Formats: sequence, C-alpha cells, structure tokens
Amino acid sequence: MPVTVIVGAQWGDEGKGKVTDFLATQADIVSRFQGGNNAGHTVIVNGVTHKLHLLPSGVVNPAVKNVLGNGLVVDPKVLLQELASLADKGLVPQLFISDRAQVILPIHRWLDGAAEDSGGGIGTTRRGIGPTYTDKVQRSGVRIGDLLDPRRLRERLHDMLPEHLLVLRHRGSHIPASDYEALAAADLSALIADPTPLVEAMAEEYLAYGAQLRERIVDTVALLHDGLNHNATIVLEGAQGTFLDIDHGTYPFVTSSNTISGGACIGAGVPPTMIDSVCGIVKAYTTRVGSGPFVTELDYDTDAGGKHLTDAGHEFGTTTGRRRRCGWLDLVLLRRAVELNGMTTIALTKLDVLGGLSEIKVCVAYELDGTRLTRMPSDAADLARCVPVYESLPGFEKLSKATVVHASEQGLSALPKAAADYVRYIEQHLEVPIELIGLGPGREETIDRRKTG
Ligand code: GDP
Ligand code: IMO
Ligand code: MG
Repeated sequence: MPVTVIVGAQWGDEGKGKVTDFLATQADIVSRFQGGNNAGHTVIVNGVTHKLHLLPSGVVNPAVKNVLGNGLVVDPKVLLQELASLADKGLVPQLFISDRAQVILPIHRWLDGAAEDSGGGIGTTRRGIGPTYTDKVQRSGVRIGDLLDPRRLRERLHDMLPEHLLVLRHRGSHIPASDYEALAAADLSALIADPTPLVEAMAEEYLAYGAQLRERIVDTVALLHDGLNHNATIVLEGAQGTFLDIDHGTYPFVTSSNTISGGACIGAGVPPTMIDSVCGIVKAYTTRVGSGPFVTELDYDTDAGGKHLTDAGHEFGTTTGRRRRCGWLDLVLLRRAVELNGMTTIALTKLDVLGGLSEIKVCVAYELDGTRLTRMPSDAADLARCVPVYESLPGFEKLSKATVVHASEQGLSALPKAAADYVRYIEQHLEVPIELIGLGPGREETIDRRKTG
C-alpha cells in the first residue's frame, strides 16, 4: 500500500517504533506528523537498540528518506544530539525537516517544568510540548525556517519572551544555569522590561543550530508529493496514542497535538484521499504514563497481574524512565480507537508478555452509576468512575525462544492455542484484521499474517 498511517491505539508506547521500522524495510519515505521528543520509540535491529525521540523510526534503514513534517514541535538541540548518537553507531540517515515545523525553545521547557512543579501539572514529559503548541496556535511561535533568518528570529523572540517571563516569574521559577549560566541569576523583572540579553543568548544558540541543519530544512510537503507522484511507498508514523489526542483523548490528561490518523493529513500535508491504509498499534494489554483515568488499571503492589505486566513487559518509559501504569486490555477504548482512526489493519504487540499468566481478562463494557456503557464517557472524571466489566480468557505458558522463532515463520498455528485464540477474540470484537503480531522486541520476532496466513 503506497501510503500507510501508523497510530497508537491506546495511551502511547504500544510499539509504534518497532512496527514502523518493520514496515520501513519496504518503504521509500517515513515521516512523522505530530508531537516532538515527548515520544520514545524503540527500534531493535540485529541486537542493537535505538531509542528514538524525534527521528522517525525509518532511520535504521539507509535507503529510507526520513521526514519531520510541519506538524511537529522540534527541539533542534535534541535532534542534533540524536543524529550524533546515530553517527556513533555508524548510521547517517537521510533526514529532511519541514521549514514549517515549530521550534521548541528553552523558554517552552522552562514553562512546562514550572507548570509541573507548581503541582497543577498532569505528569508531562517536561519537554516543552504544550507551551510550544500553545505559541503555534497563538501565532507567536518560531518556525524551523526562522532559524535561517537572524532578523526574523530576533524579532519573534523579542515579541514572545516578555509574556512568557511574566508567567515564569509568577510561578516562582527562574532561568536554569544548565541553559544560560550567565543569566541564571538574572532578575526576571529586568528581563521582562528588556529581554535583549536573553534574546541575544537564544538567538546565538538557535542560529547555530539552524546553520547545522540548513541542508536538511526543506518544503517537506513538496518532498512527500514528489514521492506520491512517483508512487513511492510512504509510512506516516504517529507518536503518542489515540487517548492522548488533544480533541479525542482523556482531556485534560492528554498531549497537545492530534495523534489520530486524521492528524497525519494536517501534520504531513498528505490529503485523506491519498491514504490507503491505517495501521493501529494495539498493545496486548494497556499501559499509561502520567496522570489521568485508566479503567482497567491494576495495582503493581497488590495485584499479581499488574506486577506481571510491568515486569515481563519492562514497562518503564523510554523518555522519562517512569514506571508505566499497567492493566488489562480495554475493548471499549479500542472500539473507539478503531472508529476514530478508521483502522484498516491492526498490529498486536507484546503478545509474548502475557505468557505465564493463568488467566487473561479483557474489559468488554463499563458500568457507571449502575448503567452499562459500551462507549466511553467524554468527561475524564466520569471515565475515572467507570468500573470495568470483564470477560475472562484462559492464559498460556511463557513462550520459549524456539516457539517465538517457529511462530514468526509459521504463523498463528505455531502458538499455544490460548494465545492464538486471544488474537482471534480481539479480531472478532474489533472487526479489523490483525495482520502483524509482536512476539518480542526484535524486528524478526513478528508474525506477518500477510505471509503466513
Ligand atoms: P512506542 O512509543 O509505541 O514506539 O513504544 P516504546 O518503544 O516506547 O515501547 C514499546 C517497548 O516494547 C519497547 O521497549 C519495545 O522494544 C518493546 N516491544 C515492542 N514490540 C514488542 C513485542 O512484541 N514484544 C515485546 N516483548 N516487546 C516489544
Ligand atoms: P510515544 O510516542 C506515552 C504523555 C505524558 C503525559 C501526557 C502529556 O512514545 O508513545 P506531554 O509531554 O506530551 O505534554 O505530556 O502525555 N505522553 C506519552 N505517554 N508515550 C508517549 O509517546 C507520550 N508522549 C506524551 O506522559 O501524561
Ligand atoms: Mg514510547
């Protein structure tokens, strides 16, 4: 299929990186379309692990053109560090960055951190994502293209900084020495009146990043459409997950972009009529990082199932190292995710993690104030009060290395019957074909039912 959109079906960390890399082996272009370095996408190829925060997961494949689309918020410092760490591993990817993407500036990180420190946060990644998207929508942001224009950059910074410094002062925060040592002790009131010293420090730093990235900064919409005109195979890689979507997620416990498949049209500049397939990445259970309602959550300390999922799944954040909250699969959420994304296919990941459980539960409906619901309520507080209605399915033994190798070649029939039945059960409930099944973190630990049947 020439254009495939990959989206997370839950709250992120479903295994989008692994699946994107898997599909990238047959792709010409891989483009991200939203988010920034709040993402953490893991790709493991030939035993080498790559933890990618900003770079698309096609970078391990030298033949693939990788794109950061206009919908991203880009921290250029992180981007350059990530490129350097790949270079250390001998990888020099083809990378193109949209001149329209927004720039995450230090002030955005400071504001994000100050909001979290104030106690009113939602457990963000503190990467400056929300404040950068706020500036974009307020039409006061800095775009990647501005990093090539010293006069414009200084103007934008002069306009933007005083208001942000007011908020920083209001929150009792300050400029961290780790960013600008010379300004760490600066009086914020003086900088609000005249931000020139901070404008100059930032302009100098960010113009230098612009100079280093100059060759890669292009009109990525033109690049993608040139590809489309030549029938290129394109993967549009989502970050975060459906229920972190700013419109459709568990607001306000969400990220600040549209994570669902529709976001790909806006964030990459590829129209809906050009999208051939939407692959929803569904983890075989549910996880969430940060605050917010989670109906099927299991307690790590008191519920053996919760401890099993966390430990066997190594559920610790790729970006912040935080322990992920874990729970059973939630079909109420997933049915909504199928609707919102128009999934044409599903990649079911981490099936192997369920191995060793004697019983597997699946949430089929909610109960709220004595009423049975098959659709999620819009309000996060109502969702938090929902009680899961479970069906219980038989568990299966821990998959041996040999079973994983065998099943990756032979397909579902080589798995224990209860594991194969679990896959078919989800498929029947969601009415979307599950074509890829993850049995381990490595690229090769995957059943591709398009080949095995
Ligand atoms: P992403 O943000 O959606 O790309 O997912 P992350 O990379 O943050 O988290 C997924 C984690 O699960 C990573 O450590 C992957 O290496 C790992 N992983 C992906 N697919 C599988 C799988 O099928 N089985 C196992 N055991 N691990 C997997
Ligand atoms: P990937 O792409 C899981 C969560 C944060 C927080 C909320 C808002 O690896 O799946 P933000 O920093 O975006 O303003 O934080 O969203 N979050 C993620 N959770 N995976 C991610 O990305 C996430 N990116 C953001 O934990 O609850
Ligand atoms: Mg992740």
